[in-house]
Amino acid sequence: MSFSSYFSKQAKRPYGIFGRFVMPTFFNIGNSKLNNFVFEILSVEKNDRILEIGSGPGKLTNKILKKIDKGFVESVDFSKEMVANSKKRNRSYIKKGIAQISEGNFNEIAYRDNEFDKVCTVNTIYFWDKPQFTVEKIYRILNPKGRLFIGFEQNNQMKNNKLDDEVFNYYSPKDIVKILMNTGFSDEILTESIICGSTIMYCIVATK
Ligand SMILES: C[S@@+](CC[C@H](N)C(=O)[O-])C[C@H]1O[C@@H](n2cnc3c(N)ncnc32)[C@H](O)[C@@H]1O
Repeated sequence: MSFSSYFSKQAKRPYGIFGRFVMPTFFNIGNSKLNNFVFEILSVEKNDRILEIGSGPGKLTNKILKKIDKGFVESVDFSKEMVANSKKRNRSYIKKGIAQISEGNFNEIAYRDNEFDKVCTVNTIYFWDKPQFTVEKIYRILNPKGRLFIGFEQNNQMKNNKLDDEVFNYYSPKDIVKILMNTGFSDEILTESIICGSTIMYCIVATK
């Protein structure tokens, strides 16, 4: 297996010693700009009930939790190495009873209808094997007027990174807006962007 292919698989679902000790640093440093950008747009309120999908080492979950008082934050990741890392970082909030960090595939976990005010996900959409199904599930578990925040980098920039096309699916903001509209999200879908060197990063915000 080429390194590009190995690294792409690790990015999709970190595993083993590399996943446990190396990938958290890649995510913490390499993804911090986009996570900070999404965090600002999230405008967390102290009573919010928020779900993060594919939370990796749990840095965004941690930033959100610092703002939460009577609300609740759940995060889910299907890499056990990432869940362990995130649980360590967020242990005080888990103890306090305002955070839950679960291992599993979002598509397979049972959530109640209308459970969350906000659902966010950063740098995960590239790996969704059934994007329409996933977005429909998010729609169902958001409360009426709940909002979805999707952070990602645009397709041609990702392609320049020489990642494995069999692992990464590339999207433009238009592709994602189309999926959201098909699902029934309201027409006012916002596409926020930030330029970071030669890269454009996006946060799409859709309201139920
Ligand atoms: C590239 S990392 C991004 C991590 C973090 N969001 C960030 O921006 O640093 C993608 C993460 O999403 C997780 N992931 C991808 N698809 C998932 C799914 N369907 N359910 C749960 N976790 C998923 C992977 O295990 C991995 O930790």
